[in-house]
Amino acid sequence: MKNTIYLLFIVFIILSGCSTYSGTAAVKGSPSKTPAYHPLIIAHRGASALEPEHTLLSYKRAIKDKADFIEIDLRQTKDHELVAIHDKDVERTTNGKGKIQDLTLSQLKKFNAGKGQRVLTIEEIIKEFGLSTKYYIETREDNSGNLVMEQKLIDILNKYNLLTEHKVVLQSFSEKSLKKIHSINKEIPLVRLLGDDEVNDLNSDKLKQIKSYAYAVGPNAKLVDKSTVEKVHAANLKIHVFFDAENEKKQTMKMINLRVDGLFSNNPAYTKRLINSSN
Ligand code: G3P
Ligand code: CA
Repeated sequence: MKNTIYLLFIVFIILSGCSTYSGTAAVKGSPSKTPAYHPLIIAHRGASALEPEHTLLSYKRAIKDKADFIEIDLRQTKDHELVAIHDKDVERTTNGKGKIQDLTLSQLKKFNAGKGQRVLTIEEIIKEFGLSTKYYIETREDNSGNLVMEQKLIDILNKYNLLTEHKVVLQSFSEKSLKKIHSINKEIPLVRLLGDDEVNDLNSDKLKQIKSYAYAVGPNAKLVDKSTVEKVHAANLKIHVFFDAENEKKQTMKMINLRVDGLFSNNPAYTKRLINSSN
């Protein structure tokens, strides 16, 4: 009798142990528990909602706010320098006048880009931040559709070891530009920005073709829904969405809920807070 009670006690202990273990395992390893979501945050022209775009102030703020990348638009000056500026001309972002391609670097440097900041060359930005951040750089064709910046840019990136240290992503709306970069160096991660018509007509053939040289696509968030994300992921590509400034606040949460892989942001700290609130 004593032995039977002892045996039952042992069986009880074993069974409770199993049930406790199963319970813990169910919590820890449950397939239904959503993993934490950590999309890339790409500081669009720096933290450009808070500081003048493409300036040292804007990039410093983005890095302080722990953006994964600082985003840089490139243009070429009359004397063939690559500078960080979005528009064809300087009117919107500086107190100067004229097209970038008609101005020399020293002429551009005289303009105030906001809060006393100066227009920067890509090399000045890299010298300032080195390997302390990652760079998400946009190439474009010149005003006549020529490719003028790809080799020069790659040379600068190599000079500062940014490619071997995996500190750079290059992006473009120009397939021609990305293909040229890919032909020079197949290791550089490329993002094909998509025009609005391309997003509306996105299909598996087009995505397959993009996949031959790029690892991600960049559509405007206003055109992205669940089916866009599914199509892109089915093609084994990542999706990084950008915003029209006026829509960013409204659409960022929607894009977070769609679990896109990267978000451009004019205010990385704000975007980070939204992501954290979704985890
Ligand atoms: O580079 C992605 C996004 O910046 C594209 O729009 O016009 O701001 O360069 P834009
Ligand atoms: Ca851009």
